[in-house]
Amino acid sequence: MINKKIKFEIENLVKVLNEYSYQYYVEDNPKISDTKYDILYKRLEKLEKDNPELIKRNSPTQRVGDKILNKFRKAKHTVPMLSLSNTFSKEDLLKFDKKIKKNLNINNIEYICELKIDGLAVSIKYKDGILYEASTRGDGKIGEIITENISTIFSLPKELNRKENIEVRGEVYLPKKSFELLNEEIKNNNKKIEIENEKIEKENKIKKLKNLNLINKIKLQPLFANPRNAASGSIRQLDSKISSQRKLSIFIYNVIDSNQKTQEENLIYAKKLGLPINSNYKIFKNINDVLNYIDYWENNKQNLTYDIDGIVIKINDIKLQDMLGNTIKSPKWATSYKFPEQELVTKLVDITYSVGRTGMITPVAILEPIEISGSTITKASLHNKDVMEKLDIRIGDTVIVKKAAEIIPKVVKVMKEFRNKNSKTLVFPIKCPSCGQMLKKDEDTSFIFCTNNKCKQKNIKKIIHFSSKNAMNIEGLGDKQVELLFSNNIIKTVVDLYKIKKEDLLKIDRMGEKLATKILDSIEKSKISSLDKVIYSLGIPNVGEKSSKTLSEKYKNLQNFINCRFEELKNLDDFGDIMSNSIVNFLHQEENLNLITDLIKLGINPEYKDNNIKNSIFYKKEVVFTGKLSLITRNKAKSALEKIGARVSSSVNNKTDYIIYGEKPGTKLEKAKLMKINIISEQEFYKILSEINNEK
Ligand code: IVH
Repeated sequence: MINKKIKFEIENLVKVLNEYSYQYYVEDNPKISDTKYDILYKRLEKLEKDNPELIKRNSPTQRVGDKILNKFRKAKHTVPMLSLSNTFSKEDLLKFDKKIKKNLNINNIEYICELKIDGLAVSIKYKDGILYEASTRGDGKIGEIITENISTIFSLPKELNRKENIEVRGEVYLPKKSFELLNEEIKNNNKKIEIENEKIEKENKIKKLKNLNLINKIKLQPLFANPRNAASGSIRQLDSKISSQRKLSIFIYNVIDSNQKTQEENLIYAKKLGLPINSNYKIFKNINDVLNYIDYWENNKQNLTYDIDGIVIKINDIKLQDMLGNTIKSPKWATSYKFPEQELVTKLVDITYSVGRTGMITPVAILEPIEISGSTITKASLHNKDVMEKLDIRIGDTVIVKKAAEIIPKVVKVMKEFRNKNSKTLVFPIKCPSCGQMLKKDEDTSFIFCTNNKCKQKNIKKIIHFSSKNAMNIEGLGDKQVELLFSNNIIKTVVDLYKIKKEDLLKIDRMGEKLATKILDSIEKSKISSLDKVIYSLGIPNVGEKSSKTLSEKYKNLQNFINCRFEELKNLDDFGDIMSNSIVNFLHQEENLNLITDLIKLGINPEYKDNNIKNSIFYKKEVVFTGKLSLITRNKAKSALEKIGARVSSSVNNKTDYIIYGEKPGTKLEKAKLMKINIISEQEFYKILSEINNEK
């Protein structure tokens, strides 16, 4: 008997996915993230596989693509524009590799990995080397003709280097910078519209009195949610003049029927014809190296000038590709690994306002708890008053929260369609939630500040910052303990930390002998912190760890630093007017100068030491890891190496200087041995690292 629950779930998934596809493809306004769509889609696929009798004709799994808009002329794709299957985990990818090897009955497969550009797929045809027709993917069989708009892309040649008759496929995208500028422009335009609308409103008031017809207000243009939507919206502008202003770009990833032997040769051929290709592709003979390449781009994608949403993994050999063939939707010889874009839906329970060490007030969303990659999220930043007001977030709202690796979760969207009709607009406080003083707005940044130097929360946050791990690293002294010490009048400023006695500590809740000793030892140890740590711990607005390092290199000790001048600061690497001003202002305030002099009196007066990084064996060297590290993650090891001037790459080649191996090293180690590359064990690596760090 058919399980009613499954039938109901399938029907629901089909309905929901079809709605989402419509929002995505037709309205250009997706209501959920691609990841969520893909997860739901996979669930539907699985249910249908287990219960084929329940497959619905209108199921999204039964179509190559989705509906298309009516505005443009249509073009038929003689070679269908397929999409790619998705993998979300390393295990999925290993399965993909296994399946391919089994189906082809081959043990060694060469893969080509390319960046998965986050834009929209297009097909472009050249006749005798001249661009004559371009179209979108549409439903994979029929697309929309967008030749004029495509022709406005500067990097795409209108004429090839050879008089070929070819069709190419590629991804149109909007560079991150152009996306920001575009949204900036829309914002500015909206401001003008708002002024115009105010005038209209005034005129309408008069007209109303005179019983005349009212003038319609001008509609504001919504901002684009991301570069992909902006690119898609731009290429499908009926007015190619608008399209041309959008600074679109393109990467070609395939020349159809090019008679090349491999995908790599296909790309090189495209390049020879004068077409723009993405040069970050790489060939791998081993799936484990593919995983390293994925890791690399997951950690470095933010350095690209355009968005990528994953990695495309293709069999390099075209003959093997042909042997495997395609399903109706996607090739069997390729897949895409999607980066986890952690966007989840939850509810807003409350809003609190936190006071930072600089007095900045940050609205914080208190959320119904949600799990994001193993950790529970209960709070998300709402950034500042403007952002909060623009979101028009209200208690009880359904919200989309985004969490990128190592970044504080943010509320990115409020799903107003699910809003409770009785909800009320939230009003940002006018007084400091900690001390009650009137708040002030900084006109440059739009942030709201409490300017009271005696504000309790502000001073507590200053001490928390001072003792934090990346500052003076006072172990055992958590946020709660600082608050208690402050509330019990044991400490008022960071200088008081150095006067704390054991009996003071023992007075606070849940503080035992052991923890008290640990804290006191750690406070004592903090006196020998390096100059950059001391500068960072001062909590000068806008001065982070990197700038503190630059300041310590420049001024060598605190006395010199106190006497720094604006002009000098401005000339330092990566120092602008804002940061230089902020430092000078900080040092002009008597209480800050007193604080620094008090620290010096306590013996916290480090001299900058040129460290031994340049003498380290890894300085300016290329290093490759293989196997699993037992003590720290690859990422940590990588950033430790980068800090001492090394470059970490994923494959062994003639540029590799060292290979570091952990448990179960892969074939990279064999290759390194053959190439006589220096081999270092995981343990030797830690030893070298600790020697370098001790000399620092
Ligand atoms: S190859 C047969 N390579 O990803 C499919 N696609 O979900 C051939 N994409 O529709 C696609 N970068 O829009 C390929 N380097 C790349 C790509 C790429 C982005 C897009 C493309 C495609 C979608 C597949």
